[in-house]
Amino acid sequence: MKVLITGSNGFLGQHLTLYLTKRKFDVIASGRGECRIPIKEEFEYYSVELTNNDEVSQMVEKYHPDIIIHTAAMSKPDECNNNKQLCTNNNVTATQYLVDAAKKINAKFIYTSTDFIFGENGPHKEDDIPAPLNFYGESKLQAEGIVKNSGLNYAIVRPVFIYGNIWEGLRPSFLHWVKNNVEQGKKIKVVSDQLRTPTYVNDICAGLENIILQNTTGVFHLAGKDIVSPYEMAITVAKVLQLDTTLIENVTSETFPEPVARAKKSGLKIDKAIKQLNYSPVSFEEGVKLTFGID
Ligand SMILES: NC(=O)c1ccc[n+]([C@@H]2O[C@H](COP(=O)([O-])OP(=O)(O)OC[C@H]3O[C@@H](n4cnc5c(N)ncnc54)[C@H](OP(=O)(O)O)[C@@H]3O)[C@@H](O)[C@H]2O)c1
Repeated sequence: MKVLITGSNGFLGQHLTLYLTKRKFDVIASGRGECRIPIKEEFEYYSVELTNNDEVSQMVEKYHPDIIIHTAAMSKPDECNNNKQLCTNNNVTATQYLVDAAKKINAKFIYTSTDFIFGENGPHKEDDIPAPLNFYGESKLQAEGIVKNSGLNYAIVRPVFIYGNIWEGLRPSFLHWVKNNVEQGKKIKVVSDQLRTPTYVNDICAGLENIILQNTTGVFHLAGKDIVSPYEMAITVAKVLQLDTTLIENVTSETFPEPVARAKKSGLKIDKAIKQLNYSPVSFEEGVKLTFGID
């Protein structure tokens, strides 16, 4: 089965490209500029700027994929807020171009959305009413609408705070920031009044694989099974790595005023994915162990 992935130079895109290639899918990895995946596997790489409609149609016509998994996005809420037009171009217009190209060949379309399409009072179910609190969330919700109204065979997956192991070229995550600071004996302040259901990257990859294999359609929350605050996440990282937990100070969100509104109580319910996709995510502690290669 031929799978075209967008955003293959990004965190999820790199993991997903390698995950599906290792499972013998015929993978075309696409990203902006040169391939930045440092691990050599049997996938083809195509350089594309998704805000250019001609480039998008040429790519889709060239490969004629059975499935397009669209992970590319301007993914940082602060950047989206500061560059709203750029965010719309990358997150909304580019999705429209890809959907248009997919329609010409009747490819299945799988879109990676986010918990940011919801407001407060999480964890949310798939059919809860969206109420994005910032422009990034709005742009992702608009893109969801394009996919839902496309008439294509589609699936939308919503992860939360994706984490996992990194290699050269992948930006360190919050977990790595905690490790690096605490290892060096530095004190850190971490908020305890926000709740999330962090997603181990291989879990979302496995969920996406099941959507492909079962030829399932619809919206699925592919998040973690534990509801934790960033403070609890930091403590778990320190405990798993046998570091000094007293260096981690428990603070509230008021300590770090953020330019962009974010839900305090977010997170996603995963019951639908567990039932329909045999989705079976690891606990947050297991995910941290896997991230840092600890048995
Ligand atoms: N990470 C999370 O915690 C999280 C949580 C929920 C949902 N998501 C969603 O999951 C997806 C993957 O997230 P991620 O963390 O892997 O993001 P990421 O690391 O920022 O990767 C996104 C990739 O998309 C590429 N891209 C953006 N605009 C493009 C364009 N116009 N043409 C070609 N490529 C373009 C970027 O290219 P450059 O590298 O060249 O900039 C980047 O490599 C996104 O859709 C995001 O909204 C992520």
